[in-house]
Amino acid sequence: MIPQYKILVENLTVEYNSNKMHQTVISNMSFEVTNNMTFAILGTNGSGKTTLLNSIAKLIKPTSGSTSIISFPTMENNLDITVALLNQDYRQTNYPWASAIENITFPLKFKKINKRKRFEIGKEILNEIIPEVNPVKKVYNLSGGQQQLIAIARAIISEPDVILADEPLSAADTIHTMQAIKAIERIREERKFPMIWISHQIDEALLLGDTIGLLSKKSHGFSRIIENPLGRPRNLIDLTNAEIVKLKAEIIDFLIIDDKN
Ligand SMILES: Nc1ncnc2c1ncn2[C@@H]1O[C@H](COP(=O)(O)OP(=O)(O)O)[C@@H](O)[C@H]1O
Ligand SMILES: [Mg+2]
Repeated sequence: MIPQYKILVENLTVEYNSNKMHQTVISNMSFEVTNNMTFAILGTNGSGKTTLLNSIAKLIKPTSGSTSIISFPTMENNLDITVALLNQDYRQTNYPWASAIENITFPLKFKKINKRKRFEIGKEILNEIIPEVNPVKKVYNLSGGQQQLIAIARAIISEPDVILADEPLSAADTIHTMQAIKAIERIREERKFPMIWISHQIDEALLLGDTIGLLSKKSHGFSRIIENPLGRPRNLIDLTNAEIVKLKAEIIDFLIIDDKN
């Protein structure tokens, strides 16, 4: 039986207490992301997107409630689940002194794949997402957008069971965004894993998300969860459908209202 994975958030509350300041960011939130499903999350700055993702990635301890990533059939050790975390700050996860290809193929080192084969596999992904980048160029010499795409390429190569992504394309241009989305959708078609994809771009959320959650700063939770009217595969042209244009206007309205004090 091929294992399936699920992300579970149960009654999650996260509060920050620093410098005598108390702030509730997430309040009693519950949802699940099942196998082969992408949950895209949109929200204004400071609405708690990173807090939520980092809680799921176990980088933040919740005030109450829980988050988990589980497998079926249940693995003896959930540490065997490969989670690709695309951090909002890609500089925290890339190796700046290493080359583009070394950064991309790093996960293959743990799979006893020889250097020549690693280069070959890495070059394929590089060609798919950022063909203009010289594979031996050091990552610190790449642009911000290119560095973000390197992190995405590495996530793809790790053959993840789950992807947790925090605005991983915020510095990428439209063409590279589309190339990256296509590559992510290609591996999702093969591996059917659950994914959470946080974004600032409504189009990106509509292209990737099967469900789109609008995270509200005011209510510390989702004020609306939208089932994407577009089925997969989704193309740019689909975003011009009247129904989608209307939905985009509603999402913008929500963001403007939620951002007001
Ligand atoms: N470690 C922390 N200590 C105190 N407050 C924090 C901390 N991390 C985030 N916050 C606050 O929590 C709120 C949500 O932050 P964040 O989850 O980063 O939002 P987003 O990713 O949606 O922009 C913000 O008001 C931010 O200032
Ligand atoms: Mg954030």
